Amino acid sequence: MEKMPYRPELDRHDVRLQPVVAAAASETVSTDWRNGLPMLAGATVTLRELRASDAASLFALLTTEEVSRFISPPPSTVDGFEKFIAWTLRQRAAGAYVCFAVTIDATDTAIGIFQLRQLEPGFGTAEWGFATGSAYWGTGVFQEGAQLLVTFAFETVGVHRLEARAAVRNGRGNGALRKMGAVQEGLLRKSFLKDGEYLDQALWTILDEDWKANTVWSGTGRMIVH
Ligand SMILES: CC(C)(COP(=O)(O)OP(=O)(O)OC[C@H]1O[C@@H](n2cnc3c(N)ncnc32)[C@H](O)[C@@H]1OP(=O)(O)O)[C@@H](O)C(=O)NCCC(=O)NCCS
Repeated sequence: MEKMPYRPELDRHDVRLQPVVAAAASETVSTDWRNGLPMLAGATVTLRELRASDAASLFALLTTEEVSRFISPPPSTVDGFEKFIAWTLRQRAAGAYVCFAVTIDATDTAIGIFQLRQLEPGFGTAEWGFATGSAYWGTGVFQEGAQLLVTFAFETVGVHRLEARAAVRNGRGNGALRKMGAVQEGLLRKSFLKDGEYLDQALWTILDEDWKANTVWSGTGRMIVH
């Protein structure tokens, strides 16, 4: 997802907590994540729930020109990030969206985010998005975090079809999705308004059957859910 979906005007509307709903598919789906996100630990990368105290590092790392170039404008202040984080927690409790903080090694500093939002009730079809500070590009952080997030989406949330949109000009974003084994299904012409210009986006998908058949990216090992 190119978009960081929080917008200040959303704060004027309460997100109503929904009862835990059965997924559209007949499979049993874990719903515990609505009460609080699990910590997903890889070899060096850990995904965990966002906290208000992550606002300062996310503001510093995600508002740079190179990071924000092809995504919708992130909050422009630390306070704006605090509101964004509070919004993500309400959306998670409502069962519509999750946002993980990316941390590495033994440090607890948030260096990026992975987002997952439902495109239909029950998360059968969902969309993911991601951004990390540019100091961490090309280091393997994305790949390890992506494995954790995608495994969580398919195995815990019960996603069947995972979509991602990337501006065609976003070489790193498209390269990252391609190397995850995502399939480019099409081109969404003039679908993303950025700085007054409509940009074409590529639509990428991963299906649960591809993931479970292990035809998508072999990964770096099993994740541990605490
Ligand atoms: C998207 C993002 C999280 C990916 O993380 P990353 O660490 O840069 O990703 P990686 O380096 O692991 O993978 C990117 C791949 O694209 C390739 N790539 C880089 N520039 C490229 C370009 N101009 N054209 C095509 N491929 C390119 C890289 O070589 C790499 O592939 P490789 O590992 O096989 O060499 C990070 O770049 C980011 O935060 N970008 C800004 C936010 C953003 O655009 N998010 C939305 C994405 S849809």
